[in-house]
Amino acid sequence: MPEKDRRGVRVKGTRVAIDETTVRSFFAHRHEKQLPHRLNYTNYQDAHPELALVRDAEEKAKILPMLDIHPGMRVIDIGCGVGRWSTEILAAGADYVGVDYEQSFLDLVSEAQPLGSHGAWVCSDFQHVTQALADAGIAMPFDRVIINGIFMYINDADIPACLSQMDKLLSRGGHCVSQGISIPHGTPHTRRHLFR
Ligand SMILES: C[S@@+](CC[C@H](N)C(=O)[O-])C[C@H]1O[C@@H](n2cnc3c(N)ncnc32)[C@H](O)[C@@H]1O
Repeated sequence: MPEKDRRGVRVKGTRVAIDETTVRSFFAHRHEKQLPHRLNYTNYQDAHPELALVRDAEEKAKILPMLDIHPGMRVIDIGCGVGRWSTEILAAGADYVGVDYEQSFLDLVSEAQPLGSHGAWVCSDFQHVTQALADAGIAMPFDRVIINGIFMYINDADIPACLSQMDKLLSRGGHCVSQGISIPHGTPHTRRHLFR
């Protein structure tokens, strides 16, 4: 099928639009559940909560080497949820900014993982993140952009706006590591690691 005809084809050849209100409501109410581990709120596996930790370890083994974090780097995590990448990034000596549109997730993590002078938790949607950073007095660009498990919640029509934010966020030579979408090409000055 030509690329342009595959837009919105999400489930077994069926065109399915994402209902943003339903998605936002799902995330807004998720914190009301009693789940054993913070990671269960965004890694799911509610029927077998221990699998969220297994998935976390496996994804980190794959993704952290791609991120290639060095001391002094600045990293932004879009759709950070409960901030599961923050510990390793801070431990590697980088500064970290976690952005999510669901304040209750940021509340869950900010107490467990205070960032002090090494970063910030910012409540914003992906589509308006550069404005939210400016409003919070947080400088751009970043050496690394993480977008893990977000694109599947965004309609195809809104993806160009998200990609344009991504380009504004990345420094020359920066890397964006994203899971959950295929983008045919990067820009000349960025390297993107994209995988499903
Ligand atoms: C599946 S979780 C992934 C969380 C995190 N990236 C991780 O790897 O653990 C999806 C997260 O994306 C957030 N989210 C979804 N759409 C978003 C958007 N348009 N802007 C900002 N955050 C969004 C949700 O609130 C949720 O925290």
